[in-house]
Amino acid sequence: MLITPPCYEWNMARTAKPSISATTSISATSCSEFVLHRGDAMSAYAHWHQPDTIISDGAYGLGGFPSDPYDTSSLAEWYAPHVQAWASLASPATTLWFWNTEQGWASVHPLLINSGWVYEQTIVWDKGLGHTAGNSNGKTLRRFPVVTEICVLYSRKLELPSTNGILPAQQWLRYEWQRSGLALSLANEACMVRNAATRKYLTSDRHWYFPPPDMLVQMALFANAHGKPTNRPYFTLDGENLPTAEEWGKLRYKWNFEHGVTNVWSHPPVNGKERYRGNSLRSAPRIHNPGSNSALHLNQKPLEFMRRIVNACTDPGDVVWEPFGGLCTASVAALELGRKAYAAELVETFADIAESRLQEAVRPLRAA
Ligand SMILES: C[S@@+](CC[C@H](N)C(=O)[O-])C[C@H]1O[C@@H](n2cnc3c(N)ncnc32)[C@H](O)[C@@H]1O
Repeated sequence: MLITPPCYEWNMARTAKPSISATTSISATSCSEFVLHRGDAMSAYAHWHQPDTIISDGAYGLGGFPSDPYDTSSLAEWYAPHVQAWASLASPATTLWFWNTEQGWASVHPLLINSGWVYEQTIVWDKGLGHTAGNSNGKTLRRFPVVTEICVLYSRKLELPSTNGILPAQQWLRYEWQRSGLALSLANEACMVRNAATRKYLTSDRHWYFPPPDMLVQMALFANAHGKPTNRPYFTLDGENLPTAEEWGKLRYKWNFEHGVTNVWSHPPVNGKERYRGNSLRSAPRIHNPGSNSALHLNQKPLEFMRRIVNACTDPGDVVWEPFGGLCTASVAALELGRKAYAAELVETFADIAESRLQEAVRPLRAA
């Protein structure tokens, strides 16, 4: 049987965990725990290890940093090369967290969907009423004051090879079982459940569930043992072998459940000791004046949020990409949690502060 190799095979081949060699050059600082690329992320991606998660906090269309456009009309264009690169370098289990305003996200969402990213959920950052202070003129405002940003989680669309071409995972499972000539209800016997396998894993409706690795292996073994001998093998990913539980598990993104955390995250904008101060670089790089009391970077994210994101969808040793680093908050969280961080930042002043934060974050790891 001839099966066209799916594009993910190439991507899967990149999943061995990285060892980052220690080098410093004009454009990148790299050590065994992180890489900070000083320049355009586009020129760094190909050199980075395959991401387990990508945390994007790029342009908002608010003119918030030097390359940020002043409205959202060109945002999709701004993100297009990055989205394409992420799609081609991701594994089937890579997640993407896309920070933006509601309007900014809405203008980029179709691009993400067309590039094979699947919408999972929206996190709403509620900055609280304090965020409106001094910003809301009740006489002129003709809408409710905005105190939110959002962070949208995407996964990769999983498509698998079959004798009928590449199929979305849900269709593929049903197709493989039906090809064996076995009644759908026998999947329950294969999985040793009363009716859950047929109802959850082989359904064609919206109640479909991604089969856990042990269930997929049971179905594959059963179909290959009892299905039509002429059409074997069933449920193969490479045209020959049955998938192992580990191989099947790697096709799905990780999720580490945290009790009590919902999709609304309340936190004031970063303040106090956590906030880096200095001249803000809103529209053009200026000399950094650490004595200034204004926020150095208008978009500095709460470290707590980045820790939560990193923790949710990666394990220690996994790879976190932060293409639009700013002060590299996501990478700091990644390092604190024992992940490998790959970040890029265009503006030298931001990259300098980011680098000192990253060095600070790895210090306890090295001392341990
Ligand atoms: C919204 S800020 C990120 C803030 C960050 N999350 C933090 O907590 O500090 C976006 C940053 O991306 C940088 N940037 C924009 N385009 C970039 C590119 N193509 N490559 C690398 N950095 C870029 C900007 O200079 C800006 O500092």
